[in-house]
Amino acid sequence: MSNEKPRRLVVVSNRLPFQLQRKNGKVEMRQSDGGLVSALKSYFENEADDHKFSSVLWIGSAEFSEKRWTSISKRQLESLPYQPNPIFFDKKLYNKFYNGFCNATLWPLFHYFPSFVEFDNDTFKAYEEVNRIFADAVCNCIQEGDVVWIHDYQLMLVPSMIRQKYQHAIIGFFLHIPFPSFEIFRLLNRPWKEKIIEGLLGADLIGFHTHEYVQHFLKTVRMIKGFDHHFRTILLPDTTVKAEMFPLGIDFNKFASASKRDDVIEIKNAIAENFSSKKIIFSVDRLDYTKGVNHRLKGFETFLERYPDWREKVVFVLVVVPSRQIISKYNERKKMIEEEIGRINGKYSTLQWQPVIYRYSNLSFQELTAMYDVADIGLITPLRDGMNLVAKEYVASKSDKGVLILSELAGAANELGEAILVNPFDRDELAESIFRGLNLDDDTQRLSIQSMQARLQNYTTSDWLSDFIQQLDDVKQEQRSQQTN
Ligand code: F6P
Repeated sequence: MSNEKPRRLVVVSNRLPFQLQRKNGKVEMRQSDGGLVSALKSYFENEADDHKFSSVLWIGSAEFSEKRWTSISKRQLESLPYQPNPIFFDKKLYNKFYNGFCNATLWPLFHYFPSFVEFDNDTFKAYEEVNRIFADAVCNCIQEGDVVWIHDYQLMLVPSMIRQKYQHAIIGFFLHIPFPSFEIFRLLNRPWKEKIIEGLLGADLIGFHTHEYVQHFLKTVRMIKGFDHHFRTILLPDTTVKAEMFPLGIDFNKFASASKRDDVIEIKNAIAENFSSKKIIFSVDRLDYTKGVNHRLKGFETFLERYPDWREKVVFVLVVVPSRQIISKYNERKKMIEEEIGRINGKYSTLQWQPVIYRYSNLSFQELTAMYDVADIGLITPLRDGMNLVAKEYVASKSDKGVLILSELAGAANELGEAILVNPFDRDELAESIFRGLNLDDDTQRLSIQSMQARLQNYTTSDWLSDFIQQLDDVKQEQRSQQTN
């Protein structure tokens, strides 16, 4: 047992990591597979008695009614590795916040789609109001010694809102999407951009997926607030704030062991039989314009055009997972993708073969890992992505050889250098990398997969979590010693 006094971890994120469903007259919890939940789970499992937290409190918006929440059984709640604290928002306010400022302003801007950005004071007001409600929920339950860890672009004002009330609170923040270059960030209206930077600077430690995002943030802080930094420590008038890189990993063992599960083997056999000896290219993304699905399809079309010998010998299995359906840009995208698939299939299909096999739905874990393992190529080409865990999951799930074609504009490209890295906007380059991938010899494929697997195994979700918490403790320690000097 560690000597340190046990303390609580207070996780704050827009969504709670589960949904409530009514089944056979009973309310059931369905856990989501997000990185953060699996990080917490494996952290508590792996660190056994030695972890530094006595309990975890998780604050997030409720995607269910208060009535449904109260009918959840005590046993179900006790089985969770955290104590959920749902916030019930007014629907209109939450819509303006989530579909408005979060996903029609911040999301496109931070992913370098400035022409998609909506500038609306009303949605920024909703963003402030919802952030205030989140901050109040934290302030209402915070105890001395608690570590507060706030997540993502939906909650960037929360750190300073808590700091104003609790000067000595321990606050960490992690951004799960890219932090853009200053030239992009500056396009936000005044005073939104000042408020966002001030909001984030309420944290003691601000984490990003890559070194590049850290550098963009440091420059933005200097340009907007005039605060300089020394080795990623930002010098505020009365304290310091650290900005650091923590590349989110995956639960490596979960994916690496999937290929041996009976239910996964069964699906793999069915896929192999269905596609006989054809090569399989696979991609899976949430429906989002940042994922580059249309560009990817164009690259595949160019490949079919240039290399007619490959026709009928390869299929592209394209899975798109529904997301943010209320926002018009997302619906438009679905139409564009489906039109493009229809056009390509219409142009190249024969009576025995269809080049693109499309599915618009979620895949179960078994289906997903079976597809990862049987695919000859994982084609993962977002136009911009904070990290992209699909690329990591694909690599981890491989029981033998395989090729990863990865966008150089995904955060994951920094760690997966053995992949074939591509510019996702360039259809010629996409076509050539598919050709190259299909012709890559088995030994090179195995070697690349194994090196990437070794790296992923070395920094899993659980390492990511402990690393962040350790550095947050170090920053706090450093601040204390500066104040006593
Ligand atoms: O990548 C950022 C992120 O917020 C993830 O945390 C999440 O899985 C994804 O985008 C989808 O977000 P939403 O909660 O809007 O469906």
